[in-house]
Amino acid sequence: MSEKIEWVLNRMPGSDDAQLVVMALENVEKAKAFHRTFPQYGVTPLAKLDGMAARLGLGGLYVKDESYRFGLNAFKVLGGSFAMARYIAQEMGRDVSEMTYDYLTSDQFREDFGQATFFTATDGNHGRGVAWAANKLHQRAVVHMPKGSTKTRFDNIAREGAEVTIEEVNYDDCVRMAAAEAAQTEHGVVVQDTAWEGYEEIPSWIMQGYGTMAAEAAEQLRTLEVNRPTHVFVQAGVGSLASSMVGFFANLFPTCPPKFVIMEAAAADCLYQGAKAADGNPRVVGGDLKTIMAGLACGEPNTIGWDILRNHADAFLSCPDWVAANGMRRLAAPVKGDPSVTSGESGAVGMGVIDAIMSDSAYAELREALELDGSSQVLLFSTEGDTDPERYAQIVWDGAWAK
Ligand SMILES: Cc1ncc(COP(=O)(O)O)c(C=O)c1O
Repeated sequence: MSEKIEWVLNRMPGSDDAQLVVMALENVEKAKAFHRTFPQYGVTPLAKLDGMAARLGLGGLYVKDESYRFGLNAFKVLGGSFAMARYIAQEMGRDVSEMTYDYLTSDQFREDFGQATFFTATDGNHGRGVAWAANKLHQRAVVHMPKGSTKTRFDNIAREGAEVTIEEVNYDDCVRMAAAEAAQTEHGVVVQDTAWEGYEEIPSWIMQGYGTMAAEAAEQLRTLEVNRPTHVFVQAGVGSLASSMVGFFANLFPTCPPKFVIMEAAAADCLYQGAKAADGNPRVVGGDLKTIMAGLACGEPNTIGWDILRNHADAFLSCPDWVAANGMRRLAAPVKGDPSVTSGESGAVGMGVIDAIMSDSAYAELREALELDGSSQVLLFSTEGDTDPERYAQIVWDGAWAK
């Protein structure tokens, strides 16, 4: 595997763009309204890194800090919780706007609906979100984790009262396992954060749920008098998150969208491989998908997400692990005067990438192609905090995974 960041500009033929509507602004508004009903809800901070922007030669650099999301240290709960609400609304023949936290936790709701079992596969963050929401809403959750999942992440899910296992297979096989079990369970439903042919409704709701994060960031930027980010960098595993962010901003700025840069772990760079093949068809990456970016260790693209990215992304990057580690250290120990962001392996790759692109001449061609300069207003998403605290310390304090 290359020690360089590999990149490719999007030269794929477009499709009819039928999936962009999933991220229509009114759908995101519904998700935001739902999340706002939770007593735990609060807008997560948008860190403004002026010192770092000046150092890198950018106009502005903003990092959405999801380590504060619902006290769960990652953005993921936004998706699972909204999908559960929409599923319950659909089962009850009601609109999701009626599914407030107060109603969903009421005795009346228990009488009206009862209990379902939500199955999922996860590297950690998604399962924790599903388990947390199921716990809060008095539903059942069954969670399967891939080989190599850490005990901390397992414990965080078990603590929410879910049935959780670590399996001997990779993430994509865990997804298949969850689907098979749900099919055999009464009122069993898979809440998976990826779509495949024939399984599209729930993942599209999950993508809408993630939209809350994009909508908050857009509003926070406006407060800072940045009406439109010029560049949005977003990391991808299956690409649900990335297509959600891209879809939201493409709908918000239909005539002048920001440039969208999609970043993956090199060991699981399925979207990059698809973009490189340039025929418009997605590609799959198999094997153990070994990377420190556990949340990005997914080898099979979300089919809905792929369609959105194929039509709207500008560049796809395949990133070695040192990029994430560099990003973590830069966010943890910022330029003096900038706020510090506790960002985990899957959260910090954007910071590592923008640092490399702006300061290493090896990426001058990419910098020019993306038109990154002193007028650029760059938005990044730190999608998780120190979800694996031991490894976080190893990387940030002890300098592990140096370039
Ligand atoms: C912290 C974190 N960031 C990013 C992602 C990537 O999201 P997606 O798999 O939708 O591409 C994940 C996925 O689990 C994650 O946990």
